Amino acid sequence: LIGLSSIAQADVFPSRPITLVVPFAAGGPTDVAARMIAIPMGKSLGQTVIVENTVGAGGTVATQRVARANPDGYTIFIHHMGMATAPALYRKLSFDPLKDFEYIGQVIDVPMTMLARKDFPANNLQEMIAYVKANKDKVSLANAGLGAVSHLCGMLFQSAIGVELNTIPYKGTGPAMNDLMGGQVDLLCDQTTQTVPLVKEGRVKIYGVTTLKRLSALPNVPTMDEQGLKGFEVKVWHGIYAPKGTPKPTVDKINAALRAALQDPAVKQRMTDLSVEIPSMDKVTPQGLQTHLESEINKWGPVIRKAGIYAD
Ligand code: MLT
Repeated sequence: LIGLSSIAQADVFPSRPITLVVPFAAGGPTDVAARMIAIPMGKSLGQTVIVENTVGAGGTVATQRVARANPDGYTIFIHHMGMATAPALYRKLSFDPLKDFEYIGQVIDVPMTMLARKDFPANNLQEMIAYVKANKDKVSLANAGLGAVSHLCGMLFQSAIGVELNTIPYKGTGPAMNDLMGGQVDLLCDQTTQTVPLVKEGRVKIYGVTTLKRLSALPNVPTMDEQGLKGFEVKVWHGIYAPKGTPKPTVDKINAALRAALQDPAVKQRMTDLSVEIPSMDKVTPQGLQTHLESEINKWGPVIRKAGIYAD
């Protein structure tokens, strides 16, 4: 009897801590977002949700790790739209975002901010563009590697102003931000999840936000669009995944915990403070994420292939 009851207990998911894999370095926006939801998710599930950073190759090292993990619900994954751009950017990818995962749900939509080191010699976007054009061999732009949204935003910026800069890849915008604050690198486009507090504390200089409307968290900061870069818009969507074959009842339990976390008043307040949007609950579903991922792969694939950007 004792033996049977312990088997029954072990079968009830979750009976031990769950690992939430983050594909970029600790301290960066994906890591911050993951930690915001890990604690309330853990409370709902009755087990700790441990955040683990697996870095490298614009998030694809972690994606591969999760694709090959045991499909038992104990390894789950948060990733942004890099999940949709990877198949075009990395031609030798060892996973398929449409075949190797179960979808838990969309999580958050995050605006970006165009930043410079504090003492960068320009006081608004137009001055910054003029300086960058006149000093293009000297100005450095940080990003988190091919497939990172900081890379995507940086590419859009360079193409919008018609200049190619010296880009410096990091394992996440957490370490890139440390170097921006330390003055080792000049420019970085990064998500508000990480940047709002640093902008408010004056630790970096901000030139614009990447949404078409100003952000409630930074109401005095103009959009890139209103300063002359018409239509400059980047908003970063995120999803939570599990390896393919994770049982449906387990996926449903993780989804319920995710939905509860996103409706937790403290989480909602923190997200609002960072101008991070929580999607409508019909998107926080396996179907909502799958449909969005498919349409994003179809959207970005041709753009990336046409631009001829790839890793190998
Ligand atoms: C991070 O968490 O470091 C960022 O999301 C990386 C990126 O710019 O994509």
